[in-house]
Amino acid sequence: MEAAPLLEVNNIEVVYNDVILVLRGLSLKVPQGQIVALLGANGAGKSTTLKAISGLLKTEEGEVTRGEIRFACERIDGIDPHMIVRRGIFQVMEGRRIVADMTCLENLRLGAFTRTDNEVKSDIDRVYGYFPRLRERTGLAGYLSGGEQQMLAIGRALMARPKLILMDEPSMGLSPLLVKEVFAIIRRLNEELGITILLVEQNARMALSIASYAYVMEQGKVVLDGTAEALADNEDVKEFYLGGHGAERKSFKNLKSYKRRKRWL
Ligand SMILES: Nc1ncnc2c1ncn2[C@@H]1O[C@H](COP(=O)(O)OP(=O)(O)O)[C@@H](O)[C@H]1O
Ligand SMILES: [Mg+2]
Repeated sequence: MEAAPLLEVNNIEVVYNDVILVLRGLSLKVPQGQIVALLGANGAGKSTTLKAISGLLKTEEGEVTRGEIRFACERIDGIDPHMIVRRGIFQVMEGRRIVADMTCLENLRLGAFTRTDNEVKSDIDRVYGYFPRLRERTGLAGYLSGGEQQMLAIGRALMARPKLILMDEPSMGLSPLLVKEVFAIIRRLNEELGITILLVEQNARMALSIASYAYVMEQGKVVLDGTAEALADNEDVKEFYLGGHGAERKSFKNLKSYKRRKRWL
């Protein structure tokens, strides 16, 4: 029998402010030790999905109104966000929400807020090992470059010693060179530290290059999923996300294989 996935999102609905239905029966699985990508156009509901998992929806008047979320086989929907961090899930928010008027070091210490052990200091050294540039930056985090802020946001997540990191558009606003650097580090965190990663990205090419499995969502639902290899080869994914320039962006629903898949279901 197949082992239970580390994270299982089962048919969830999410409503904001009691009325706005954003996720409509979304399901996905993230197996232990893997990188899974969640792709989709702006407004599809990717960030909402991550916030439903991390419990941060609560801070935005959002609520999971149907379905269930399981982490290590236990229900986590409805639990307070800091308890979810304690269980081993850490979300790196979109737009790298670091604390601008604190130093790098203070930001990193914040990431360890749930910990009571005495290895925080050696973990800070480990973070600097992944991001050597952060060690040299002694000023306020607000003065860091975009790439350094993204690295700090990831470093802060590491300080919580998470089992699962939810990463929301780490490539946003970064130069192609920095995107490569950040993705190389995400891959290393997975390989060297064994951290499982759910990666939300609009940069589908980069995401599919490091993920083993991927989901494509549109309008609050998964419309396509498969191995990263299969999706990178899929004509519709190529046309919609990987191709290109000048190509008119249709709704994914009108594309060929989505219709084919619908017919099979
Ligand atoms: N706090 C909120 N209150 C009301 N609607 C929201 C809120 N956050 C997001 N939405 C709406 O939910 C939909 C999905 O948003 P989001 O999850 O941010 O999509 P994505 O991350 O895929 O771009 C959008 O239509 C957005 O306007
Ligand atoms: Mg988003």
